[in-house]
Amino acid sequence: DELEQWRVRILGRRGELTGILRGLAQLDLEERRQVGALGNQAKAALEEGLEKRGRDISEARLAQVADLERIDVTLPGRPVATGRLHPTTQVLREITDAFVAMGFSIVEGPEVEWDHYNFEMLNIPQGHPARDMWNTLWVDYVNELRTHTSPMQARVMESVQPPVRVIVPGKCYRYEATDATHEWHFYQVEGLAVDEGITFADLKGTLYEFARRLFGTERKVRFRCDYFPFVEPGVDMSIDCFSCEGSSGWIEIMGAGMVHPRVLAGVGYDPEKYTGFAFGLGPERIAMLKYGIDDIRHFYSNDLRFLRQF
Ligand code: PHE
Repeated sequence: DELEQWRVRILGRRGELTGILRGLAQLDLEERRQVGALGNQAKAALEEGLEKRGRDISEARLAQVADLERIDVTLPGRPVATGRLHPTTQVLREITDAFVAMGFSIVEGPEVEWDHYNFEMLNIPQGHPARDMWNTLWVDYVNELRTHTSPMQARVMESVQPPVRVIVPGKCYRYEATDATHEWHFYQVEGLAVDEGITFADLKGTLYEFARRLFGTERKVRFRCDYFPFVEPGVDMSIDCFSCEGSSGWIEIMGAGMVHPRVLAGVGYDPEKYTGFAFGLGPERIAMLKYGIDDIRHFYSNDLRFLRQF
């Protein structure tokens, strides 16, 4: 605004310089030529100065705006007081961190799953008695709410060639009567490693290391033989819980085993060349052991008195 006022006062139609230049007409010819030349020089210099000053001002203003309104997208977000992470989420993060540190990648899969992946590709054909191990919620004749995260074993192997090292956290569902250690919906974390030369020692080493990371070196770990149609041999792994009520002193936290040659062949891997291990663990059970929670149903009851403790 000040610059514009200045322009009107000096260079405007009634401005001071304009007045002087107009007055030239009264001078005689020689004077008019000299003064006229000087006057035009002065006018050009002033106009140039005016323009430069205008440019400087708007550039300075842009720089100021850029500075004041700058957003540094690399800054971490500030925590907002909206509550806390659900204990299941906290434990899931601990579990996935432990396996990521050992070189596993995280993948996720669909919760509504084909019978084909949930059972058939896992060496559990129609009519196989092992289907009774999973009480299934059917969506229609070929789709179900997945009863475990194991269908992702086949989905992953169909899409990549070995070496494979993945974990699959996700929700599972079973048509189940609930009690203190059984819910009809719950999380699992599946694990799968396939390569040349993988042995049962790799399975035990990986799962011991996992237990050490989550429970420390003092807690005891037990492997027992168990049966799952998609592994051979199959085991389950338990953590000691001698104070746990109603338990035998051990709580089972996962099933595991060496990937069955039929599962490998089913996805087109050569079982003579590749071996691998798989496991499926229950994060809520792990949270129960870590924090001394006595009933799995607390996780889904949305009781703030429970949730606020974590
Ligand atoms: N999917 C099995 C279950 O839900 C657990 C499991 C996974 C067992 C991988 C062996 C290997 O019971």
